[in-house]
Amino acid sequence: MNIIPMPVKIIEKSGFYKLHKTISVKRNEKTENIIEIFGKELNKITDLKLETTEKDFDLQLIFDEDILQLEGYQLLVNNNGIRISSGKTAGLFYGLITLLQLIVKNEIPFCEIEDAPRFEWRGMHFDVSRHFFSILFIKKFINLLALQKLNKFHWHLTDDNGWRIEIKKYPQLTEICAWRKNLEHLPWNERQESKKKGNGSYGGFYTQAEIKEVIEYATERHIEIVPEIEMPGHSSEIFAAFPQLSCQGRKTKVASGGYWPNTDIFCAGNDDTFIFLEDVLSEIVDLFPSKYIHIGGDEANKTNWKKCVQCQQRIVDENLKDENELQSYFIKRISSFLLEKGKIPIGWDEIIEGGLAKDIVVMCWRGDGKDALESAISTENKTILCPNSILYFDWKQNEDSQGAFGVTTLKQVYDYEPIHAGISLNDADLILGVQANVWTEWMPTSKDVEFMAFPRMSALAEVAWCEKNKKDWEEFQARLQQFKSILDKYNVNYYNK
Ligand code: ACM
Ligand code: ZN
Repeated sequence: MNIIPMPVKIIEKSGFYKLHKTISVKRNEKTENIIEIFGKELNKITDLKLETTEKDFDLQLIFDEDILQLEGYQLLVNNNGIRISSGKTAGLFYGLITLLQLIVKNEIPFCEIEDAPRFEWRGMHFDVSRHFFSILFIKKFINLLALQKLNKFHWHLTDDNGWRIEIKKYPQLTEICAWRKNLEHLPWNERQESKKKGNGSYGGFYTQAEIKEVIEYATERHIEIVPEIEMPGHSSEIFAAFPQLSCQGRKTKVASGGYWPNTDIFCAGNDDTFIFLEDVLSEIVDLFPSKYIHIGGDEANKTNWKKCVQCQQRIVDENLKDENELQSYFIKRISSFLLEKGKIPIGWDEIIEGGLAKDIVVMCWRGDGKDALESAISTENKTILCPNSILYFDWKQNEDSQGAFGVTTLKQVYDYEPIHAGISLNDADLILGVQANVWTEWMPTSKDVEFMAFPRMSALAEVAWCEKNKKDWEEFQARLQQFKSILDKYNVNYYNK
């Protein structure tokens, strides 16, 4: 059966349940939302219409307390119709997603399916700072995640190239920091914007009302949106409006492209930095219902911390050894703030350097992720694996295809095993799951994003959902052919070689 990701257990039976123009669903208030979404997607994929009825229904959704896995479900198709059971709405939703992929030519093969995910974190990251993308596209992207049972959308909302979220207390963030000089005609690394005069005309941001709309859209699809606010590095866009928060107090311009090293980072010795960040995070906490907030922490260049009187004073006052410990102080201070507000902070794996904060989740991205994973496990911190050598979807899909840096093929993504040999069963419990990242330096348009993210996202979905022994590359490729025909219905510009 052509289902992606592959369910845990399928028993195929002979025969088909036939549908004629409609699929009728037993009415139930508690499942109205997911049925409505199912109906919308059904219209995109098939010619069938959805109806809700009290009796003589084709499809019934049942809450079954005996199905204990949070996102697990059972699906039964026989002469009597289609029955999806789960203990929770999320499981029923995933049963419907499976059903969508099973309907071929208005008939559904008789079968019994039992299913539940391997990992609780099945994530997809998306960078909207390097290039800005419309709400319409964000929703399209999120919907495509849901169709593959991915359940976290890590929204990289701030970085050197533009601040993308309305913060009521600091309107300058979206009036100034969201805009850069438009040098889109030049390659990313050849944009010497700081030498040019003039205001920015490339950019954009999401209002809080728009963010709420996207959260609602994602929540209905059982996707948690995890916002990221970068600190202490990858934050130079902020100093275009708030230069006093960086060590040198230098007014920067929002960068139009890449420049390295980027030494403009938040001053860790200035209490105003923390007041500002806590104000921003307070609005983020109020806006996003997510359990997690990502606070960045990657690639903070410490050149200015070494020269800054206030940063050096902080090192003395807090009895810190060096700038790595100062970074740790920074992250711990912000983490405590979030934990007090009932949120779990996440940071990129550099937050390990200088001592890891308690209860922060480590996103392991450098290399194959193993070193960071082992460090995090040694202090019992939870982790998410998104190694750049495998799960960075800005990397080329093939030697001669579009993209940056190295190559990470569909097969490499598919073959990725997050729990490498040497990790004990106990320690494996600290691995929340896996995620792929879409950095958009080299992706100016949504068509570029689709080209880079698909179909590798389907391989990711399978890594995140399926047990290791269930994966089969040859067979996955066959199933992917049908999934590509679904992607066609959504007008997705996937890489197809
Ligand atoms: C990263 O790629 N800098 C997390
Ligand atoms: Zn400083």
